[in-house]
Amino acid sequence: MATTIIWHGHSTFEIVTPRGRLLIDPYFTDNPVAKRTAAEMSADAILLTHGHGDHVGDAAEIARRTGALVIANFEVSHWMEQTQKVRHVHAMHIGGQHAFPFGTVRLTIAHHGSMLPDGSNGGNPCGLLLTLDDGIVYHAGDTGLFLDMQLIGEAGIDLAILPIGDNYTMGPRDSLQAIEFLAPKHVVPCHYNTWDIIRQDAHGWAQKVSDEGLATPHVLEVGGRLLLDVGAVRAADS
Ligand code: NI
Ligand code: MN
Repeated sequence: MATTIIWHGHSTFEIVTPRGRLLIDPYFTDNPVAKRTAAEMSADAILLTHGHGDHVGDAAEIARRTGALVIANFEVSHWMEQTQKVRHVHAMHIGGQHAFPFGTVRLTIAHHGSMLPDGSNGGNPCGLLLTLDDGIVYHAGDTGLFLDMQLIGEAGIDLAILPIGDNYTMGPRDSLQAIEFLAPKHVVPCHYNTWDIIRQDAHGWAQKVSDEGLATPHVLEVGGRLLLDVGAVRAADS
């Protein structure tokens, strides 16, 4: 049974594995490009890359309603539990890996900030390296380019999800270098076109990824989905 990966705009991804439904950085209510609402979403686990409002988004509401487990760095997990009254949290930190029912999660470095919406300290921002039954998925979170992506790539990434919006994160040009470092088989762009300041030509970017032979790019529409099937990625009908 394949794993379905759905982009909900910005950095929000829904990953439906045979062993659980995951939401990464669920940002619906204040997301100008979202086509779904937080109230429609369900999850077994919610994974958060960092504390910024466009990433923690609707996580607390969805977690309280569904009982989903929130997985994040220690500071963000603590805030979710103590101030947002989320019942089930799992704190991790950079370099740590843990096996969950749906697969394993490793938190990786990211170069960014992580302050929570109320000004609380959100610790250090992270990326997510997920080992699922159908393959290895890396969601970089919000980050600039860093050389240690070479080390992360040693995991043998099937699908990398990278920000290309520029201004707050790496832009299209640095993301090409990131793909070279990570050496994933497939790549999906995110964190662009949510607002004017991060507007990018994703199709132009994808052409460069293809021309340079770096990986197979997949530019999704909001709501678009991919199937990951034992390391192979293909488009799915929405
Ligand atoms: Ni951010
Ligand atoms: Mn962001």
